[in-house]
Amino acid sequence: MLRLSLPSSSSPPIASTLRSLPLRTVAARQTFRNTIGLNVWYRMASTANTNVFGLKDPSLIKTQGFIDGKWVDARDGATIRVTNPATEEELGTVPEMGLAETQAAISAAGKAFETWGRTTAKSRHDILMKLYALMQENHDDLGRIITLENGKPLAEGKGENAYSSSFIEWYAEEAVRTYGEHIPSPFTNIRNVVIKQPVGVVSILTPWNFPSAMITRKLGAALAAGCTAVIKPPPETPFSALALTELARRAGVPDGVINVVTTQKNVGEVGREMCESKTVKKVSFTGSTPVAKMLYGMAASTLKKISIEAGGNAPFIVFDDADIDQAVDGAIACKFRGSGQTCVCANRIYVQSSVYADFASRLAQKVAGFKVGNGLDDKTTHGPLIHDRAIQKVQRHIDDAVSRGANVLVGGQRISTPGTFFSPTVLSEVPADALLNSEETFGPVAALTKFETEADVLEMANNTDVGLAGYFFSRDVGRVWRVAERLEVGMVGTNTGLISHATIPFGGVKESGIGYEGSHGIGEYMNQKLIAFGGI
Ligand code: SIN
Repeated sequence: MLRLSLPSSSSPPIASTLRSLPLRTVAARQTFRNTIGLNVWYRMASTANTNVFGLKDPSLIKTQGFIDGKWVDARDGATIRVTNPATEEELGTVPEMGLAETQAAISAAGKAFETWGRTTAKSRHDILMKLYALMQENHDDLGRIITLENGKPLAEGKGENAYSSSFIEWYAEEAVRTYGEHIPSPFTNIRNVVIKQPVGVVSILTPWNFPSAMITRKLGAALAAGCTAVIKPPPETPFSALALTELARRAGVPDGVINVVTTQKNVGEVGREMCESKTVKKVSFTGSTPVAKMLYGMAASTLKKISIEAGGNAPFIVFDDADIDQAVDGAIACKFRGSGQTCVCANRIYVQSSVYADFASRLAQKVAGFKVGNGLDDKTTHGPLIHDRAIQKVQRHIDDAVSRGANVLVGGQRISTPGTFFSPTVLSEVPADALLNSEETFGPVAALTKFETEADVLEMANNTDVGLAGYFFSRDVGRVWRVAERLEVGMVGTNTGLISHATIPFGGVKESGIGYEGSHGIGEYMNQKLIAFGGI
């Protein structure tokens, strides 16, 4: 903390003294300017070394939360350190906010809803389309921020920005099509009309694996529907959320409509308020199943609407009638996207015995060719994991499988450089009772298990409490229908390892979630209201 006592009568000399101070950030300088002339103790708040980001527009880096249209620090000045997982270097800090800031954000969103909720769908469409255009214009910078804070290769970082902005575009187009209906009445003197209205203030809680897209997938729908929002981004990757908020402000989203509360240590009290406050009418969460259950319990106290996208543990099945090259490419795309850190990544790879050896050797050969490194290096195909805890989980799963008889075909250990890198791994002969087959690994490990019959593999694939995505490769059209119908998941990829788009209903069954996002998901942010016209 930097403390300065400023005599109010000497602004010009102080201003030049301040300019000469070794302040690291634009944000800090701005805050200094605000204090010139005030005889105050100044507290050094959140910072970022904007040079580290190397952006065309450094003003996209915001180091404060956003409440009621203002960039703000935590009330007690506490901060969270954000690091680049590829270098372990500090990117900057953001405020460690708590209950008071969350309540202020919710109250601002509640007030803003009174006007935003009554705007026309067309005006919301126009603002969202401006935001979409700004996300395109700032494509390189937004992709770079994602790569620096998450670690994914720059091509994937930019790919995420394209994916992320596609939700804004999609929901802008959905806003103007939230039609109601007329329902024929059984009575001659009554007419029934149903209209759709925004639910109100929405709490949005998102994970670090898609620092941008998991926000727009929710925020796009909320804004398009006429809702206002309080966003809690993850402490590992807050800068994408803050940059998006800045672009939304530039696009004309009014004060209070979007609020961002950054937090880490205080997440318990922040999360509880976001789920229990009576002003909040809906909670939308993407993250782990245990946290989803906790938030669901809290939201139940006021019977809020809820959307949950939780853990996956996706099965990926290769039948003996599959095109093996296509299956190998599908497995690579599906398993190693984001270094295995997506909820829809293949977690259990089941291969029919007659094609098992061929598939395993072709997959291992391709994985051995990956180039792991800093995402900013254009030769890098795969970046680091997010933090040490992620590395430890991956290692625990590999050690467990090996202790039960699995073979390491490629990889198997941490790469010992600065940064949280793990070598992409292929394991063969993974027994059905290995941890890898029962828990989501969330890392770059392809775990191959052999199977004999369609019935056996369906039993193994469905033997889990979760059901987000599932994949299989087969050229038998009858089997394609049968297996797709029998897999207990919300989304099936047949002969493809990639399914995600703004246009599809993204969501799971069992303990993988409630509701869906994308597609017609705007409906999850709206209430239906019947208006019965009598006396006709
Ligand atoms: C997730 O990992 O939660 C989302 C993945 C996707 O949208 O494809």
